[in-house]
Amino acid sequence: MNKLSQWMGTITLACLGSITVPASASDDAKFDDYRSALEDGNPGEFWIDDGEELFYAKAGPKNASLDRCDFGLGPGVLEGAYAQLPRYFADTDKVESLEGRIISCMKNLQGYNDKQIQEQFLDIHYLNAAEEDSRVSPLSQIATFIASKSNGQPFLIQLDHPKEKQAYELGKKTFWNRMGAMDLSCANCHAVKGRVLRGVELPIMTDPHRAGKVMGAFPAYVNKDGNVRTQWWRNERCLLAMRLPWLKTGSPIDTSLILYQVKKAAESKQEIAVPGIKPRA
Ligand code: HEC
Repeated sequence: MNKLSQWMGTITLACLGSITVPASASDDAKFDDYRSALEDGNPGEFWIDDGEELFYAKAGPKNASLDRCDFGLGPGVLEGAYAQLPRYFADTDKVESLEGRIISCMKNLQGYNDKQIQEQFLDIHYLNAAEEDSRVSPLSQIATFIASKSNGQPFLIQLDHPKEKQAYELGKKTFWNRMGAMDLSCANCHAVKGRVLRGVELPIMTDPHRAGKVMGAFPAYVNKDGNVRTQWWRNERCLLAMRLPWLKTGSPIDTSLILYQVKKAAESKQEIAVPGIKPRA
C-alpha cells in the first residue's frame, strides 16, 4: 500500500512536471523526463519477478518448466538472448519473436497444444484491444523477465539465415504498404517528420535512434493501462487503429514487423532497458 501511494505521488509529480515542458520540446524529451521521474519506482519491475517465477515453475500437460527453452544461444541461456530476437530456429523452422518463441517452448517442453495456448495465454488476457484491459498476462510476465536479461546490451540482428532475410523483407513490405479500408501504411504515421496525432508527436521508426529508444523499452509499463505491454501489443494497437484484422501473437506478420523495427533499432547501438515506462502507448 505504501509502495503504491509512493508511485501515485511520483506519477502526479511527473504529470505536473510535464505541464512546464515548453510546447516546442520534442516528445523524446518529454518521455525522458517522465522516465527519469519514475526511474526509482517502475511498477513493471514486478513483471520481472513474477515472470521469473513462472519461467521456472512446472506447468502444462508435461508438468515441465521452461528452463530448457532455447532462445537462440542454447537451452536455458537467457543473458543477451532477447537482444538477438527475432531470429531463425531450426526446430520449428521459423523465425520467432520473443513471445513466439515462448509459445513454441510452451508447446514443445510443456506439452500445451494450440487450443490451450490460445485459451490460457492469448484469449483470456487480450480479449479485445480495449485500452482499459488491465488484466496481467503471464506471457508478458515471462517475456519481461527474459527481455530484462539483455539489459545494457544493444540489439544485434544479423539476418544470416534466408528465412530471416525473408521475414525482414515481409516486415519492410508490411511497414511501407498501404493497407485496409483506410489505405494507410505504418510509414504514413511513422516515417514522416513532425506528424502529430491526438497531440502526440509520432515516433519516426525509420530513424535508428528513435527506433532504438522505442524498441529497447518494450516490454514497457504503460501507466495509462496499469500494465506491461510488449512489442506485439504495440503493433497490434496500430494495426487495429488502421482497421486491420487482429494480429496473432507470434504470427509471421507480427514477427516480421518486430524484426524490421528491431533491425533499425540495432543500427543505433542503443542499449536495451527493460521494462521501459511510458505514460501511454
Ligand atoms: C494513423 C497513424 C498511425 C499508423 C498508421 C500507425 N501508427 Fe504506430 N502509433 C501511432 C500513435 C498515435 C502512437 C502512440 C504514440 C504515443 O502515444 O506515444 C503509435 C505508436 C507506435 C509505436 C510505439 C511508440 C513508442 O514510443 O512506444 C510503435 C512501435 C508503432 N506505433 C508501430 C507502428 C506500426 C508497426 C504500424 C503499422 C502496422 C503503425 N505503428 C501504424 C499512430 C500510427
